[in-house]
Amino acid sequence: MELRIGLLGLGTVGSGVVRLLQTHAKLLEQRSGVVLRLVRIATKRIPGWDRGFDLGTTELTDDVTRVVGASDIDVCIELIGGIHPARDFITTALQHGQHVVTANKALIAEHGNELFALAQQQNIELAFEAAVAGAIPIIRVMKEGLVANQIEQLYGILNGTCNYILTEMREKGLPFDQVLAEAQRLGYAEADPTLDIDGIDAAHKLAILAAIAFGTPVAFHDVTVEGIRHVSDLDIYWAREMGYRIKLLGIAKQSAAGLDVRVQPVMINAHSTLAAVDGVFNAVFVQSDFAGSSMYYGRGAGEKPTASAVVSDLVDLARNLRSGARQRVASLSTQPQHLRPRHCCPVEDRTGEYYLRLLVRDRPGVLAEIATILKNGQISLKIVHQHQRAPMEAVPLIIVTHETSEQQIQAGLKALSELESVLEPPRLIRIEHLGA
Ligand SMILES: NC(=O)c1ccc[n+]([C@@H]2O[C@H](COP(=O)([O-])OP(=O)(O)OC[C@H]3O[C@@H](n4cnc5c(N)ncnc54)[C@H](OP(=O)(O)O)[C@@H]3O)[C@@H](O)[C@H]2O)c1
Repeated sequence: MELRIGLLGLGTVGSGVVRLLQTHAKLLEQRSGVVLRLVRIATKRIPGWDRGFDLGTTELTDDVTRVVGASDIDVCIELIGGIHPARDFITTALQHGQHVVTANKALIAEHGNELFALAQQQNIELAFEAAVAGAIPIIRVMKEGLVANQIEQLYGILNGTCNYILTEMREKGLPFDQVLAEAQRLGYAEADPTLDIDGIDAAHKLAILAAIAFGTPVAFHDVTVEGIRHVSDLDIYWAREMGYRIKLLGIAKQSAAGLDVRVQPVMINAHSTLAAVDGVFNAVFVQSDFAGSSMYYGRGAGEKPTASAVVSDLVDLARNLRSGARQRVASLSTQPQHLRPRHCCPVEDRTGEYYLRLLVRDRPGVLAEIATILKNGQISLKIVHQHQRAPMEAVPLIIVTHETSEQQIQAGLKALSELESVLEPPRLIRIEHLGA
């Protein structure tokens, strides 16, 4: 049996897929019982550069219709990224009865529900293991390995760029902008880093994981998102002093009140397992009722790790087709008729400890003024530290609260920011006590 493959996009991941299919052709055939034949690659421009591999009998074209909807292609691998025109290409492929494998987290997070419905209607597969956490097979873990469990909560370090930046800031004591520039130079951050550093990429991945974990349609717009732009070297310093580390975490929890799904920079115990995940690595911690705690760690991006995930979907598809199975596992694990939208707890419902950083005028009475505002807002303080005593116009003031509600802290911050002695908007980082 043969699976005829068409590839869209020959960039980082596309090249990795070609390389992997060539390197492990025999192994993949032995494991799947199917010949995985890369028939054609369509890309916007036929590259003039040498990718370091010989395409052999595989055709290279700049005509996407030679792959999408082509009668001699069984499965389209979409590796061009973005929403447009990827959404149209995948829709057309599914309409023509072609299976689809994609690494496109933005598309799955924002339009996955319509594409899953179409795949189901056509009785074909739409697979997306590579969309979340690269080489970590977390989608398959959730859909198959942990299928017997109720997932109670999951936490993930889902963006390698942010994790790299926060790690470098901590290890080298450098400011955010300098580390970001270095990350761009090394190719760990895009020229336009917005999707990564503003938390959107992590939110795409979290939305997908939360849907699988909690049996809901994908609801990207319900994810509360905050990135790491405002994390300063002072915050990193204070986190260390207090026994914490700052991580950009995707958090998805379910409670009787609803789902709490958010991406935020948070302070976590420096001795926790997640705190030890450094550099470009990703990790996902899952708490489930029968399996208990489990954690999955690995490379979250890059040519080879992402290609590994893409090709795992191809092998899965080949095995299913070989055994005559179609839609063996529902796209989001739960059968579509049983998916239920869930109430999302507003971020104001959170309670916990908060770290605050203010820049204030260095003059007598300011501290008392601030303490009074927080006391009136029923916010009790655990730590107050004026960072520098050298004679200066402005000094940073660090405050850590005892457990309080998000509503109270937001009201407190608003009142503080209106003070003449507070020189820039106060910054806040949530302190999370996780089981991981
Ligand atoms: N890179 C990673 O580590 C990683 C990890 C996980 C998931 N992903 C996901 O994998 C996907 C691909 O990422 P990538 O890093 O490989 O991207 P990339 O290096 O930018 O490659 C994109 C490829 O798609 C081609 N392309 C763009 N628009 C096209 C169009 N309209 N028609 C045909 N071809 C088109 C590009 O051709 P030109 O070069 O001619 O423009 C290029 O060959 C994205 O969805 C990304 O989110 C990437």
